[in-house]
Amino acid sequence: MPRIDHYLTPDDLAKALRRDAAEGLGARPRSLPPKWFYDERGSALFEEITTLAEYYPTRAERAILRRSAPEIARACGADTLVELGAGSGEKTRLLLDALRARGTLRRFVPVDVSGAFLRESAAAIGAAYPGLEVHAVVADFERHLHLLPAGGRRAVAVLGSTLGNQPPDRRVSFLADLREGFAPGDTLLLGLDLVKDPARLVAAYDDARGVTAEFNRNVLRVLNRELDADFAPEDFDHVALWDPRAEWIEMRLRARTAQRAAVRAIGLTVDFAAGEEVRTEISAKFRRAGVEAELGRAGFRLEHWWTDPAGDFAVLLARP
Ligand code: AVJ
Repeated sequence: MPRIDHYLTPDDLAKALRRDAAEGLGARPRSLPPKWFYDERGSALFEEITTLAEYYPTRAERAILRRSAPEIARACGADTLVELGAGSGEKTRLLLDALRARGTLRRFVPVDVSGAFLRESAAAIGAAYPGLEVHAVVADFERHLHLLPAGGRRAVAVLGSTLGNQPPDRRVSFLADLREGFAPGDTLLLGLDLVKDPARLVAAYDDARGVTAEFNRNVLRVLNRELDADFAPEDFDHVALWDPRAEWIEMRLRARTAQRAAVRAIGLTVDFAAGEEVRTEISAKFRRAGVEAELGRAGFRLEHWWTDPAGDFAVLLARP
């Protein structure tokens, strides 16, 4: 049976949401952290997004891993795969298969904020890989990195360009914190979406079917349910724009009309002017030179850089 460590309780999450809503909605411009997208409906909508024609990142990263997982396994020689923001999907299995094929795989450490998701994915991986030690960790990997299981020769993976949700300064401090816990022989695997034609980037975050728009509005439904709020999601327009200076996609929700929302669990009343926006996500896009510099500032050295044939996405391996 997989072992599961809990460093986050439902009460921790409830407190964090209250704090994030009070800070983010009280600030100007207003914002909400993207971590709150992923309730059950948000996670299902994101899964649907990954299948959309316009949303190339998941397909591109899978293509890289299908082709390069054996080379990645050879380069890292890990006996433990630690996956932050754990999947149990094809990408995780491509890495596990390659490490098992080399005969080095001993342990899988999926890390995620959702205990329910982890129980499900840990059980699925445990069943699919007999003899593999599965040690799941329910944690916020922005706060609990020092609690990750140590030992062995670990490949620590942050796939799906999840790192892109953080601005540059937060990315470097996250990577530096991660580096703190690295032992000799540990390696870092990152999946990163690359800078490309802004029209393709915007389309990936504003699909014709409006699935991303629904994903974006869903965060207001999370606030309504969890914080006893009365936002009217359908009175907000989905906005996705490319910021050429920061080189990131920004998603926002724009109030179609002047409106007031109560957030009763935190005693907040939010007045939106018509056209006023809440920023709900940044999704940074990367260039190799910029990544090398950020890794360097965090104490890592870029060792391998694999891309898909179109050059849309990159998976990299770095060491301290
Ligand atoms: C899961 C954070 C990598 O930024 O592309 C997809 C989330 N947002 N469509 C991304 C997302 C809008 C995705 N990440």
